Amino acid sequence: MSDPADHVTGITRRQKEAVRESWGKLSSEWKKHGVEFFIRLFKTYPSILAYFKTFDGMDFDAIRSSPKLRAHMLNFKHGITSFVDNLDDVECLTVLIHKMTENHFRRQIAVNEFQDAFTLFTTFIQEVTQCDDITLGAWTATLTVISTVIRDHMTLLHTREDGV
Ligand code: HEM
Repeated sequence: MSDPADHVTGITRRQKEAVRESWGKLSSEWKKHGVEFFIRLFKTYPSILAYFKTFDGMDFDAIRSSPKLRAHMLNFKHGITSFVDNLDDVECLTVLIHKMTENHFRRQIAVNEFQDAFTLFTTFIQEVTQCDDITLGAWTATLTVISTVIRDHMTLLHTREDGV
């Protein structure tokens, strides 16, 4: 059976389906999984935790139960949902990623932080959902496209003074 690739992103139809299905499962229980993902992210990358001034001076138990962590987890979830829902509308997808990039660029967050977070996110998905290699490859392809758009947009923002 043919599996056409998007001519801009290179992501195939089956890969898009795999990512949508996988995210559907994971996001429906994000209140539980999101906490574990972010705590692991902060433990693995203290440099990422340092961007969250709101958690300054808090230990991991306090962060774990903080409503501010739950609020950021929801921001992250809605962002990923908007990307996954728009894999077929690349123009809209690009605008969504640009907006998110600008929000983080203002906070001096670099593309490396996104790449580290996405690598950990892929490992996390594999562990939590026990997904197959096709789904894992589909996530890697999707997050690579998102990372590339973030990287290119950050490069552009660096050339502008106001960062938007
Ligand atoms: C696809 C990945 C991500 C999405 C969709 C996302 C989404 C968001 C959104 C929607 C906000 C709120 C923006 C605002 O109020 O101006 C936010 C805030 C923030 N994000 Fe992200 N984010 C992502 C990844 C990251 C990464 C990798 C970092 C690493 C440092 C990060 C750090 C922050 C920080 C520090 C804030 C401010 C939190 C606060 O003020 O409480 N985000 N994010």
